[in-house]
Amino acid sequence: AKPKALGPLAFEPIAPVARTVDAFTVPTGYRWEPMIRWGDPLFAKTPTFDFSAQTPEAQAQQFGYNCDYLDIIADTNRRTGVLVCNHEYVNPNIMFAPTTDAAELQRRGEIYKMAQGFTVVEIERSRSDVRWSYVVGGRRNRRLTVESAFAMTGPAAGSDLLKTAADNTGRKVKGTLGNCAGGTTPWGTVLSGEENFNGYFAWAADTPAQKRYQSSATTTTSTGWSSYDARFDAHDPDYVNEPNRFGWIVEIDPQDPKSTPRKHTAMGRMKHEGANVIVAEDGHVVAYMGDDERNDYLYKFVSKGTFDPRPGNGARKKNMSLLEEGDLFVARFSGNSPAGQITGTGALPADGLFDGLGEWVALTRNGESAVPGMSIDEVLIYTRLAADAVGATKMDRPEDVEPNPATGKVYVALTNNSQRGSASALDEANPVTGNRYGHVIELTETSGQTGTTFGWSILLLCGDPATFGNAYFAGFPADLVSPISCPDNLAFDSAGNLWISTDGAPSTIGYNDGLFLVPLEGAERGRVQQFLAVPRDAETCGPVIHDQEGLVFVAVQHPGEDGAVGAQTSLFPDYGSSAPGDVPNAPRPSVVQVSKI
Ligand code: FEO
Ligand code: CA
Ligand code: CA
Ligand code: CA
Repeated sequence: AKPKALGPLAFEPIAPVARTVDAFTVPTGYRWEPMIRWGDPLFAKTPTFDFSAQTPEAQAQQFGYNCDYLDIIADTNRRTGVLVCNHEYVNPNIMFAPTTDAAELQRRGEIYKMAQGFTVVEIERSRSDVRWSYVVGGRRNRRLTVESAFAMTGPAAGSDLLKTAADNTGRKVKGTLGNCAGGTTPWGTVLSGEENFNGYFAWAADTPAQKRYQSSATTTTSTGWSSYDARFDAHDPDYVNEPNRFGWIVEIDPQDPKSTPRKHTAMGRMKHEGANVIVAEDGHVVAYMGDDERNDYLYKFVSKGTFDPRPGNGARKKNMSLLEEGDLFVARFSGNSPAGQITGTGALPADGLFDGLGEWVALTRNGESAVPGMSIDEVLIYTRLAADAVGATKMDRPEDVEPNPATGKVYVALTNNSQRGSASALDEANPVTGNRYGHVIELTETSGQTGTTFGWSILLLCGDPATFGNAYFAGFPADLVSPISCPDNLAFDSAGNLWISTDGAPSTIGYNDGLFLVPLEGAERGRVQQFLAVPRDAETCGPVIHDQEGLVFVAVQHPGEDGAVGAQTSLFPDYGSSAPGDVPNAPRPSVVQVSKI
């Protein structure tokens, strides 16, 4: 039976794809094409990509590596628009053959700096074909990299904890790092989460605050930057605060290529997966955010100001300041079943649900610290310590946290947690020992979207029902669903169905990662159906569901990441083609457009 609400995007689920298959797989009646690939030119004078002759200058003008958050934002004419995309990290092992030559390693390091960050690129389509193409030389085309200028906003901007030898204002940061998931705001800007920023620094683990973001010190990094660029050496007294300038939510205006992107201190510093904004009943805007680390927390931000829905630049300009001031909260969950019934196997407790109540605990109020003994700067810059102090609930790696625009309910992807039941105790919200396959929580605000109380229940306990008998799909018969593991990014279609992309299925259930539809209402609630699978070693990111046009977009991140130059495990998406600009013998992270035939 096809899900009726989907209309033009109705499909028969694909079978799971074995982890050794290097193919992009779509349902019968659909086709796929790369829309833009790592190295594709963005500007009129950008050289054609040459895998064997990469340079920092060329990479700075080309689509970056490891695309993650993605959106396709149409202009009001529906014929033009922009594609926006994060570039989370690089895979040196499949970009270059090994070398120990210091000068060459530094040259590659500068390529890595240009390959990360963010892309805005214009898109267009004709009247006769719903599919989009990107535009070389578009007016709004832009690359942000590890060397671009960013401005700090909010209560901690200008703090001594943000000052370095190169910036005595604590307000002007070079670059963005680890840009993972994100969200597009109701006013048309894009939020990008700075996630695993710690890995780019030779890390000092001298203080409790430094240890809380990485427990042990390091002297080298995979990009090599710390060996020749002092700002990535946190042992250097001049740059001891440089890591404090990363780990933020970044806001980018894709309509204005000259605008300075901002890092919002009011939203706290952590390994931000992303942020997703909804306008509350009373006009305040609420951002939901996950800190993707084992045993870290779920957050929400409530703006001080209110959203101005009027069209035009005056209202938009005002809305663009909404994330600069507001209150930050962290989640505390409680279960309603006796602790003895949470056995760690995933077996449901006697009341038939993993569920209960919760509280949003304030970390800041009206621009002041709400945590005794910590200043506002400390709460915002060392947010994990503040959340520890108020007894927040340790979660199984919160990834995307996304409000459903159709209902206001909030969905939390918890990707997995090998330490559950050891480093962190079992609880009803994280009920599986060593949580290998992850789960999804459905959270219902019970005192309004801006309020401090909620109810919750586990929607999905992921896994392959063939091998994990306690996998749970909101009560839908487990033998009728697609196996799913390690939920990561979330999206909604126009009917309010949930879509989940995964990262980690190959090593947990033996299938390639993919994109899955999950109806949330009616008889089909919980019926997980696989829409696509990505190629070998890849993660599925940034799903965008334009169901009314029969279009789906995903970012294919790190295809072939377990290979090496000369021993590639994936050749996606060019698969041997040596046409100009193609790469016959190496994989390329790419944005893929899926459409109906
Ligand atoms: Fe970059 Fe939490 O995924
Ligand atoms: Ca219960
Ligand atoms: Ca992610
Ligand atoms: Ca992930």
